[in-house]
Amino acid sequence: MRKAVIPAAGLGTRFAPATKAMPKEMLPVVDKPAIQYVVEEAARSGITDVLIITGRNKRSLEDHFDREPSLEQALADKGDTVRLAAVQEPTALADIHYVRQGDPKGLGHAVLRARSHVGDEPFAVLLGDDLIHEEDELLTEMIRVQEQTGGSVIGLMEVEPAEIAAYGCADVVPASGSTPGDGDYVRVRRLVEKPCPAEAPSNLAVIGRYVLHPAVFDVLETTPPGRGGEIQLTDALQTLAAGDSDGFGVYGVVFRGRRFDTGDKLSYLKAVFTLAIERSDLGPDLRKWLSAQSEGADLG
Ligand code: G1P
Repeated sequence: MRKAVIPAAGLGTRFAPATKAMPKEMLPVVDKPAIQYVVEEAARSGITDVLIITGRNKRSLEDHFDREPSLEQALADKGDTVRLAAVQEPTALADIHYVRQGDPKGLGHAVLRARSHVGDEPFAVLLGDDLIHEEDELLTEMIRVQEQTGGSVIGLMEVEPAEIAAYGCADVVPASGSTPGDGDYVRVRRLVEKPCPAEAPSNLAVIGRYVLHPAVFDVLETTPPGRGGEIQLTDALQTLAAGDSDGFGVYGVVFRGRRFDTGDKLSYLKAVFTLAIERSDLGPDLRKWLSAQSEGADLG
C-alpha cells in the first residue's frame, strides 16, 4: 500500500470562530497541527504518497508540509537544532500532493476526486478529524486485512447506542478467514449512514480510517446523493458490501484503542491533555497542576 487520501475540504463549523480564517486541520494538538499526526500515522504504516483534498482557505496546509527557508535559517543561526528538526520534520514524512474538491458534495465526492491520482491500486483514506494514539495501531492492521481479503476494510469502534447517529453504522458477522484474538476482523453485511439509534443495526461506528479497493471509484461515480443531500462514502461501501463482483466485499477491524475526534471540542481537549501528559517536557508539571485543580487548590 503506497497511497493515502486525506479529505480536508470541510469548513470546520463545529470549531467556529477558530476556523473562520484558519483550516480546522491546523488546530494545534500540543505543538503540532492535527493533520500532521494523521500524515505521521500514514507514514508509520509504510505509506509514501499522500493526496490531500483541499478547498478554499486551506493554503496553510500546503505551507505546513513545505520548506520554510527563512524560519529554518533563523533557527540554524541560533543553533536551535531541536526546533529546526521539528520545523523540517513535516516536509519529510511523505510525498504530498493536493487537489481541490471544488463543489462541497460530500465525503464520497471528495474521495472520487482522488481517482486519477490513485489509479488502479488499493489505497487508504484517513479523515483528518480522527486522531488515533500512535501506540494503538489500527491502519497497519487494516492494510494487512485488505491484503488478505482483497476487498475493502473499514475501521470500526463500539460507541454508546445514543452516539451512533453521528456515524456510519455497520452490521457485521464473523469473517471466515479471521482467527479470533489474533488480529481478528469481521465481515460487513450492511452499512447505514448516521441512523437514528432505534434503527441502528449495531453499536459499531465507522471511524475515519478506510483501506479501499479501487472498485469503489466506479461505485462512487453512480452513487446518488444520500443523507444530507451529499454523496456518502458509506453508501458506496454498502454497494461494495452487498455485491460479489471483483474487488467487492467489505471487512471491518474493530479498534479498541484511543481515538480522539479533534473536530469535537471536548474530545479535542482530551487529545491535547492526553498527549501533553505523556511528554517529558510538559507531563510532570501538567500532572501536578491538574491534581492540584482537582483537589480544589487555586494555583492561579
Ligand atoms: C464521516 C462519515 C461517517 C463516519 C465519520 C467518522 O462523517 O460519513 O460515516 O462515521 O466520518 O468520523 P462526518 O463526521 O464527516 O459527518
